[in-house]
Amino acid sequence: MKTKTFNWGILGAGKIAGKFVQDLATVNGAVLYAVASRSMDKAEEFAEKHKVKNFYASYLELVEDENIDVIYVATPHTFHFEHSMLCLEHNKAVLCEKPFGINLEQVETMISKAKQKNIFLMEALWTQFLPHFQFVMDLLESKEYGDLLGLEADFGFNAPFDAEKRIYNKELGGGSLMDVGIYPVFLALSLLGNPEEITAEARIGSTGVDENCTVKLSYSNGAKALLYSAITETTPTTATLKFEKAMLIINSRFHEPSSVSIETNGKLETKEFPVTTHGYNFEAAHVQKMLDENRTESNLMTFEKSKKLISILDRIRKEINLEY
Ligand SMILES: NC(=O)c1ccc[n+]([C@@H]2O[C@H](COP(=O)([O-])OP(=O)(O)OC[C@H]3O[C@@H](n4cnc5c(N)ncnc54)[C@H](OP(=O)(O)O)[C@@H]3O)[C@@H](O)[C@H]2O)c1
Repeated sequence: MKTKTFNWGILGAGKIAGKFVQDLATVNGAVLYAVASRSMDKAEEFAEKHKVKNFYASYLELVEDENIDVIYVATPHTFHFEHSMLCLEHNKAVLCEKPFGINLEQVETMISKAKQKNIFLMEALWTQFLPHFQFVMDLLESKEYGDLLGLEADFGFNAPFDAEKRIYNKELGGGSLMDVGIYPVFLALSLLGNPEEITAEARIGSTGVDENCTVKLSYSNGAKALLYSAITETTPTTATLKFEKAMLIINSRFHEPSSVSIETNGKLETKEFPVTTHGYNFEAAHVQKMLDENRTESNLMTFEKSKKLISILDRIRKEINLEY
């Protein structure tokens, strides 16, 4: 049987778009069909470098291209709403980078639009689709090690200070929580669900964004999650899960393809999950599967999960007085 093909459009020719298309090239049936940038030179350079068939100097031309099946939105956080809506208005399926929107209101509007148009939309929370993450979720469900009592997870990296750059720029949704803190929060949501109580504190830097953020999530069953994110220092970027009968460590960096170590009765065993790509191919293949099945919502990274995730981020931002 012939593999069904999907023509992908890339909206925004930045850093992550470059990595994503490298992995997309490994996905069966994926066609790197077009890229759009705000600048013709950049679009052409990206297309040449990554062997993309077509390039455009405006996002509008991309969404108007009749041949495109699905668009990957890879612009800064504060543009995810505008650009996803632009795609949906033009009846294009969307895979939008994380965070899905800048607040719950935006995410709910995007989801309503997708439902109204009957078009596929998904948040590109790639960890959801990685083999080691699936392994951890299966283990949790099996209750092999009993209940999960607590979680500690961090994600910090040292981004050189530049007030204009996306990471430090408030206009572009900068700060640690929305950029990397989203991963520990996503993990806590996946493992423990919606927290009952949230406390958080942050160091707000000179550009008005959180340079680090410490979060404590408390759950009705007594479990706790202690989370940390930073853009001014590198941290282990591991996740430690405390089960009744074992301690499980998702090794560094826990949000990307990684290994999992399990300690029981003083014995440590590590399970590897070798991957030959960055790991973005798994989410892309999932999107194609969903499209092939004529679905308008992912059965894994569901609308409900994205709404819960952004709601927790909203609540944390309220605690640290950070408004975009
Ligand atoms: N999943 C992951 O592992 C991962 C990793 C990194 C980032 N991300 C997410 O991907 C998004 C982009 O991150 P990035 O690191 O790729 O950022 P980046 O290198 O700054 O690229 C963002 C691109 O967005 C476009 N853009 C449109 N309007 C813009 C504006 N007003 N200012 C700046 N750029 C604008 C630009 O493309 P043109 O100039 O070509 O139009 C720019 O190159 C973020 O939301 C981030 O959370 C995800």
